[in-house]
Amino acid sequence: MASDGSPLRDRLEAIRAAGLTAFAAAVDENDLESARVRYLGRSGEVSAAMASLASAAADERPLAGRLANEVKRELENAFENRVAELKAEGEPPGLRPDLSLPGRRTWIGGNHPVTQVIDEICEIFGELGFSRAVGPEIETDWYNFTALNIPLDHPAADMHDTFYLNDGVLLRTHTSPVQARVLMGSEPPIRILAPGLCYRRDPFDASHAPAFEQVEGLAVDEGIDFVEFRAAIDFFVRRFFGAGVRTRFRASYFPFTEPSAEVDVSCFLCDSSGCSACKGTGWIEIMGSGMVDPAVFEAVGLDAERYTGYAFGMGPARIAMLRYRIPDIRLLYEADTAFLEQFV
Ligand code: DAH
Repeated sequence: MASDGSPLRDRLEAIRAAGLTAFAAAVDENDLESARVRYLGRSGEVSAAMASLASAAADERPLAGRLANEVKRELENAFENRVAELKAEGEPPGLRPDLSLPGRRTWIGGNHPVTQVIDEICEIFGELGFSRAVGPEIETDWYNFTALNIPLDHPAADMHDTFYLNDGVLLRTHTSPVQARVLMGSEPPIRILAPGLCYRRDPFDASHAPAFEQVEGLAVDEGIDFVEFRAAIDFFVRRFFGAGVRTRFRASYFPFTEPSAEVDVSCFLCDSSGCSACKGTGWIEIMGSGMVDPAVFEAVGLDAERYTGYAFGMGPARIAMLRYRIPDIRLLYEADTAFLEQFV
């Protein structure tokens, strides 16, 4: 660019500057065409400069030749760009690109908040030796009910509560049938978590969804007692909700556990002072649980005298709603990327 005493290269630089200015200044097609003829035409300035290469000094020629090509290409590009610009300016405003718009970000995506909660639960129990297990969403009534000591005339097995596909085949209403599948497919010691979708004939409203996730837990071995069970749940609660959060076991009933307990945690939103999430009680229920009922061991053919264990089931969507203060469960299941993006 800087002059080093070569008249031809100085001339090319001057043509470049003048040509670029002329193209940019052209206000219509005629203007632009005459600038093109002047700089890029057959007998235009670039051609004339190129013609004089022949008479340039031999050591000057390669540098000047390269520059001439560069200037020519740059002017051709500038000309094409200006043609496009003038064309766009001539179009109705709606068709013109609005250069003031912010750029489009590429959607990268991320794990759904419920998946994040499931992964975290699995990670924490993973430290206690639990691995992941999966079972089918289409189940038989034997695994879903009978093996779990739920008689088929129990209200939970009713047509009104459950999606039946065929006689005896249904969409599982909980992840507990995975307990029976794992117990039949492997020898204790067993420590598994089974996250997955469940289905119930519930309305789709602020607190119910007909398809929802559960995370099932099961530990079976010789000599597992209630103390180990409490310790495992306590460990999970403190790791998941925070070191200061307390656990409370409330006597309950499930056909497949004896004794059964509902597990509550001290409200981590209001520090137990009473808020809408804990309904003023200071406690939030997070899971159903209990010691595996011997009837389940008998149903799957395990020695109920030899083995004991504990089981639990929780709803990660509810936990995600509490944690992120999501007021309506439907938000989690409507594919609204603006909503979901907040959790990426
Ligand atoms: N399956 C139960 C339900 O869907 C939840 C549950 C309760 C699972 C107690 C368990 C348990 O493993 O021990 O309501």
